[in-house]
Amino acid sequence: MARQKQILLTLFFPILLFSLSQTCRAHNITKILAEHPEFSEFNHYLTATRLASEINRRLTITVLAVDNSAMSALVARHFTLQTMRHVLSLHILVDYYGSKKLHQLSRSSTLSSSLFQATGSAPGTTGYVNITDHKKGHVTFSTEDLPDGASPATYVKSLKEFPYNLSVIQVSSVLTSPEAEAPVPPPPPVNLTELMYAKGCKAFADLLLATADVQTTFDDNIDGGLTVFCPIDSAVKAFMPKFKNLTAARQTAILLYHGVPVYYSMQQLKSNNGVVSTLATGGGVKPTYTYAVKNADETVSLNTKVDEATIKAMVHDEDPLSIFSIDKFLQPKEMFKAVLAPAPAPAPHKKKKKGKATADSSSDDDAYSPDSSSSDDDAADKNAAGRIAENWVSAFAAIVVAFVALVVF
Ligand SMILES: *[C@@H]1O[C@H](CO)[C@@H](O)[C@H](O)[C@H]1NC(C)=O
Ligand SMILES: *[C@@H]1O[C@H](CO)[C@@H](O)[C@H](O)[C@H]1NC(C)=O
Ligand SMILES: *[C@@H]1O[C@H](CO)[C@@H](O)[C@H](O)[C@H]1NC(C)=O
Ligand SMILES: *[C@@H]1O[C@H](CO)[C@@H](O)[C@H](O)[C@H]1NC(C)=O
Ligand SMILES: *[C@@H]1O[C@H](CO)[C@@H](O)[C@H](O)[C@H]1NC(C)=O
Repeated sequence: MARQKQILLTLFFPILLFSLSQTCRAHNITKILAEHPEFSEFNHYLTATRLASEINRRLTITVLAVDNSAMSALVARHFTLQTMRHVLSLHILVDYYGSKKLHQLSRSSTLSSSLFQATGSAPGTTGYVNITDHKKGHVTFSTEDLPDGASPATYVKSLKEFPYNLSVIQVSSVLTSPEAEAPVPPPPPVNLTELMYAKGCKAFADLLLATADVQTTFDDNIDGGLTVFCPIDSAVKAFMPKFKNLTAARQTAILLYHGVPVYYSMQQLKSNNGVVSTLATGGGVKPTYTYAVKNADETVSLNTKVDEATIKAMVHDEDPLSIFSIDKFLQPKEMFKAVLAPAPAPAPHKKKKKGKATADSSSDDDAYSPDSSSSDDDAADKNAAGRIAENWVSAFAAIVVAFVALVVF
């Protein structure tokens, strides 16, 4: 009997743990806060400053959220988005503080590094947050450069806890720090052409410049986050005969196909398999002009079903723009015959395109796409939220199965 239990436990525990780890892997701060409408302003600015994606990709994090009435004091100061990002990044601690831990600080106070500190934007130690557990459950948060007379923010309640990965806590007011509130000079404008010229993608950069409106579409998408995969010069050279053979509309589409309107760091590409939309993706029911990002060991490749390119080098990587050189010209299945095995089912990282492309690629209806109804495309179309829900269901199912098994045997 005991032995049976032991066998069952060894059988089911891995399933259980696997399901659970799948579940907490992808937290979505936007979604969590959306359940609390009184935090809509804070939530809005997390997205606008792109701190939301920074929170989502970190594994151990605490968010100190303020409600709309507390947020209004900050909004009223009309900071630029960069300054807003600094101030809000003070509210993101790169450690896990659940309600319990906050009320049991061993030496009654601790210094925690915030994202402001962790990203190197804070001079000295101004990006540290002093958390003090006063008696009677009164917990305060203050910055190292809290001005005289300003009061620290106090703990209000816990909104969400995924021990020891993500904790979302309400605090009474916005943390004050002169350093974080200081004006931030706008980042120097990046010159895509120049960046690509310097790192072996000259031919591709020239193609972008030479094709009407393409360069502009790339430039216009930088602010909102952009990942560019530029084929190295030899890859462009090899593809040129085919490129010249394409209609003007298709030339535009295939160039836009090399831009993904989401910023991905190398680390993010290495830790996620999934289908991505591109600047050429159309607005129809079925996303067109996509490809699968796959990674094995330290290698990241892009599979279009027609060809598969591998990332050779990082050309530029600074939020909101990353550029990676690849060893092949990406050929969409909308134009060329798909020959490769279908890409594996995508992981939860797929992003939906937000109507950014300007090229009229979706109307390119003479595209070769006999296999566009294959079932893995359907799988790709499910959104991330759906997948997380599935993970919860499978976690729950595993718990039920394990429980029933224990009771029965
Ligand atoms: C949760 O955090 C722990 C410790 O930081 C980490 O090892 C683990 O991978 C995280 N779990 C998930 C599912 O991300
Ligand atoms: C997070 O949730 C929001 C709101 O539900 C959604 O719009 C967004 O696409 C999600 N982000 C990710 C990365 O899944
Ligand atoms: C945090 O601030 C309190 C009150 O100002 C101070 O007594 C304490 O030493 C500080 N804690 C740390 C770890 O700096
Ligand atoms: C970008 O750099 C290229 C090459 O140095 C130059 O020709 C072009 O004028 C620059 N573009 C802008 C907008 O500065
Ligand atoms: C160009 O198009 C023609 C007609 O469709 C085709 O026969 C030829 O093989 C193509 N050339 C290349 C290099 O793809």
